[in-house]
Amino acid sequence: MTASASPFITPPSLLDHVRPEALAVPHSGIVEVMNYGRERPGMIPLWAGEGDLPTPSFISEAATRSLAAGETFYTWQRGIPELRAAIARYMTGLYGVPEDPERYYVTGSGMQSIQICIAMTLSPGDEIIIPTPSWPNAAAAAQVAGAHPVLVPYAYDDVHGFSLDLDRLEDAVTPRTRAIFINSPSNPTGFVAEHETLRGVLDIARRHGLWIIADEIYGRFYYGAGEGGLAPSFHDVMDPEDRVLFVQTFSKNWAMTGWRIGWIEAHPSLGPVIANLVQYATSGVAPFMQRAGVVALDRGESFVQHQIARARRGRDIVADAVMATGRVHAAKPPGAFYLFFGVEGETDMRALALKLVDEANIGLAPGTAFGLGGERFIRLCFARGEAQLAEAADRLVTWLTR
Ligand SMILES: Cc1ncc(COP(=O)(O)O)c(C=O)c1O
Repeated sequence: MTASASPFITPPSLLDHVRPEALAVPHSGIVEVMNYGRERPGMIPLWAGEGDLPTPSFISEAATRSLAAGETFYTWQRGIPELRAAIARYMTGLYGVPEDPERYYVTGSGMQSIQICIAMTLSPGDEIIIPTPSWPNAAAAAQVAGAHPVLVPYAYDDVHGFSLDLDRLEDAVTPRTRAIFINSPSNPTGFVAEHETLRGVLDIARRHGLWIIADEIYGRFYYGAGEGGLAPSFHDVMDPEDRVLFVQTFSKNWAMTGWRIGWIEAHPSLGPVIANLVQYATSGVAPFMQRAGVVALDRGESFVQHQIARARRGRDIVADAVMATGRVHAAKPPGAFYLFFGVEGETDMRALALKLVDEANIGLAPGTAFGLGGERFIRLCFARGEAQLAEAADRLVTWLTR
């Protein structure tokens, strides 16, 4: 007789044996709306944090050339020397910091940079302070590591937009706090920390002996006045020995979101630790992608400028149109490429995002996906061409004023 499954034994769920921290991280509220709407004909997708332009061919071709040349072997954990040198040139050009390749470590994305910074700074049970609403991945990565994200909501008003209350930030410090995560310019709020705020955060970190994880990936997307169209940076206010770790990526500036390549900037003394953490994660980034990174940095400036100009126009098109309806709560964002706004009379933003898919054929991301303080808002990504954004604004205005 052959054995068959007994109808009286319920098979144990494999999920019961998964580490609780891995089970506890929330599913993305952005992906839910994307999955709901992605197949609709004519949909204008403004839900994700990326533009509509593919990677420029002069960048992609550098990867193909490298592959054709057989660069398919394991490589440096910290990144190939040519890329580290190119990053150093680029960062010196932007921020005037000393040109030192030893400060830069190539990673498999901005996301992986965050994971490595967390692995360097937080033990299980430790706390990291994160101003919110914020891109949810940093808090989730901390949770996966067994640490606790402590969410501190930004202050908000329609005139000034979002701002960081430094007293509230310092009140959140406990004996378990190890780090503060600062994303400026911010996804999703568009908040940009001015120098005074950055100095204030640095003072708090110094007083309490904390790390700062500075996610400045949108630093080029800055619409305020100031030097060279560059958002204020911790580079401008810190001393070399401050405990600041910078998260960076190729994703946004060079339209390379699908590539998965970024970097960490950190004090050279941290090199052996970062190299080890790369080793035990991915053991290094594919060399052909790194060759493309060199070309992006060395020859991509006019493309970056083109993207920034496009985003600035996009911001004006959508913000001017929807704010004129009188039903929208928003301040024009000074940085990044998102309009994060509330809608008079709408309280359930997840339901609103689904409704806008059905009734206006536009895809936005509900603010509920971005943590404490995001509940009243919805996010629109304006890193796209004028014609499409004008059409999206039209649809949104028609829906809002019907
Ligand atoms: C604030 C912020 N940091 C980091 C990232 C990570 O980018 P990537 O993993 O594509 O390099 C993103 C992506 O949307 C982001 O918005």
